[in-house]
Amino acid sequence: MLPQEAIRAKRDGEALDAATIGDLVAGIADDGLGDAQIGALAMAIFLNGMDATETVALTEAVRDSGDVLDWTALDLPGPVIDKHSTGGVGDVVSLILGPWIAACGGHVPMISGRGLGHTGGTLDKLESIPGYSVVPDTATFRRLVKDVGVAIIGQTADLAPADRRLYAVRDVTATVESLPLIVSSILGKKLACGLDALVMDVKVGSGAFMPTPEASRELAETIAEVASRAGTPTTALLTDMSQPLAPCAGNALEVREALAVLTGARRDGRLLEVTRGLAAEMLLAGGLATDRTAALGKLDERLASGEAAERFGRMVAGLGGPANLLEAPDRHLPSAPVRRLVLAPRAGHLRGMDTRALGMTVVELGGGRRQAGETIDPAVGLSDIAELGTKLDAGQPFATLHARSPAEADQAERQLLEAIEIGEATTSPTLIRDIIRREAP
Ligand code: URA
Repeated sequence: MLPQEAIRAKRDGEALDAATIGDLVAGIADDGLGDAQIGALAMAIFLNGMDATETVALTEAVRDSGDVLDWTALDLPGPVIDKHSTGGVGDVVSLILGPWIAACGGHVPMISGRGLGHTGGTLDKLESIPGYSVVPDTATFRRLVKDVGVAIIGQTADLAPADRRLYAVRDVTATVESLPLIVSSILGKKLACGLDALVMDVKVGSGAFMPTPEASRELAETIAEVASRAGTPTTALLTDMSQPLAPCAGNALEVREALAVLTGARRDGRLLEVTRGLAAEMLLAGGLATDRTAALGKLDERLASGEAAERFGRMVAGLGGPANLLEAPDRHLPSAPVRRLVLAPRAGHLRGMDTRALGMTVVELGGGRRQAGETIDPAVGLSDIAELGTKLDAGQPFATLHARSPAEADQAERQLLEAIEIGEATTSPTLIRDIIRREAP
């Protein structure tokens, strides 16, 4: 079918068949379609949606538009499993989860991204480690996935190239917020990594990518359904993002926090609880545990024994970072010159946070990008962020700012004070709101 006829059919609300969707996506990848046609197609999908069968076909076509990683030649002793998150603030789960799963017998080829909007990016966090390369050669990547069990790197040009072009057009044609386009974009990239199973962390709350809890749930259910129908058994967790997940936000600060969890210096907290919940689902999905109790037992043992930390250290060293990061993080990770406590303006309970605004504060401090390609400052951010529900006296610190200058700290302090609500006591939001499991058909 001519592209314009397929676009017309979608414009008029018809469902497209898999062959037509395959041709359109191939045209996006090989320039057979012009930007105007891609924009019109995206808008037709945005306005009329796609049913589940179309969304599966779109996901498979995006996945197959470039290289699909194949691990069979490596004869790996365990399953290839991964996690993806819709992103948040203080979400440094991947740095703990990948090595932890590796210590339990899984293989995690994690292709991660950079910060987007108010959310932090795993690659930016890892690049605060001096020497760490997020673009290793393929042989190094495959060797680490086989020998260490985990490698966290950036996307290559050959992985799901149709998504890169389609996303760039969506970004400038007001068509980002479309469920089938979001699902196929996220899954097209992830499923191209040759996974046996996937776990998705879909965030809910004031720092989440989706605007409402209902929209987050719909995304989680659609992702689990579509990925499983595309052949990758997928579990989606709905997790809370109504406050930063870690008690800090900012690249090197979050790496320090991940190290504290991995080495056992921090044994509780929401970051550990969500990571443990996601990890248990990965072990179940990958067949590395028979039930949830066994999965949690195995995870606790491999964390306490130091094996997860050891895998992290090997991954960092294998990708060019310092061999003694775990033992001497302060020797390698940068610190900001200005530190300032932010004080509660009155007594009361910390009732609410505009988590998105906290993330934007980190961006404005220099920890994220205002424009694509900008250099970021790995040292800046927030730490010691009090949890929702904390009782504060007037003048008691509820966060510490890490800034490059007093003027930047002044501005960030004003923003932080506007982003919090102090009032009556409240209960902490449930951390793992739901788990949606889907087997491949
Ligand atoms: N993340 C993606 O990779 N794609 C989208 O469309 C939205 C979020």
